[in-house]
Amino acid sequence: MGERLKNKVAIITGAGSILAGTGNGKATAIVFAREGAKIMATDYNLEAAEETKRIIEKEGGTCISFYADVSKASDCQKMIDTCVEKFGRVDILHNNVGMGGYAGPVELAEEIWDKTMTINLKSMFLTCKYALPYMEKQGSGVIVNIASLSAIRCQPAPALAYSVSKAGVIALTREVAIQYADKGIRCNAILPGMMKTPMVEYYNPDAYGDGSVELMWQRRDAMCPTGKQGESWDVAHAALFLASDDSKYITGTTLRVDGGLSGTQRSWPPDKK
Ligand SMILES: NC(=O)c1ccc[n+]([C@@H]2O[C@H](COP(=O)([O-])OP(=O)(O)OC[C@H]3O[C@@H](n4cnc5c(N)ncnc54)[C@H](O)[C@@H]3O)[C@@H](O)[C@H]2O)c1
Repeated sequence: MGERLKNKVAIITGAGSILAGTGNGKATAIVFAREGAKIMATDYNLEAAEETKRIIEKEGGTCISFYADVSKASDCQKMIDTCVEKFGRVDILHNNVGMGGYAGPVELAEEIWDKTMTINLKSMFLTCKYALPYMEKQGSGVIVNIASLSAIRCQPAPALAYSVSKAGVIALTREVAIQYADKGIRCNAILPGMMKTPMVEYYNPDAYGDGSVELMWQRRDAMCPTGKQGESWDVAHAALFLASDDSKYITGTTLRVDGGLSGTQRSWPPDKK
């Protein structure tokens, strides 16, 4: 056990994984707990959050699981109030929940645009809305928002709603950071590139692998300068840096966790026209 988050209380949204395996939120909950944080693992799939709790407790950490659909204001308010009730404070809010999906403006259904904005962007406004008053009273707090490289760079396949929602996360991060900078509260965003996670397995095989998960993994590896996609643990360790005092003078910024992908001009790998 490390001590970089000793005695801190952290809420992780989407702390389960959409399929078997370890997504970004789950890995972050586990890494924060290993560094001494008390974890509130929240998800609208309670069973998935409970699995994360079991892993943390087996390693000797502290975790409670909690049902919250972060697209709903009442659930966000209850989540934050319950955290303060159970642990007495909220030091870290890690906004991880997000949904994927591929379509350009013509193909995209209006409902999917609305759903994507609600789940990826409005959810972060709502969790901040209810967490910030507590953090302000404490005189301290850290918010880490999971955006995406798609906020600043097109994916090979059109992902209009996803990319626009994630660009919004960067603006939300900056607004919160500047408004609360003199109140001891920091807010930063992580831009993951191509990570090999259950979420990608769920949303991306058609866009990247012509329906094949294996082909998708091969193509995504080939697009990365390192020859390999990242892992959820890479996102989790970046989040640990931003959540800990190691980054105490860093706010309002974005951290790319992309193995150099954003520095390239690569699009599809050579086998895909
Ligand atoms: N994997 C990548 O390549 C990649 C790249 C860029 C950004 N990201 C971002 O990483 C984040 C997701 O990471 P993950 O690996 O943990 O995903 P995941 O899909 O494995 O897990 C997300 C969890 O969120 C929960 N969830 C979904 N909607 C919810 C809601 N409305 N309320 C509460 N819980 C909800 C799901 O039940 C699931 O357990 C997203 O924001 C995604 O956009 C991923």
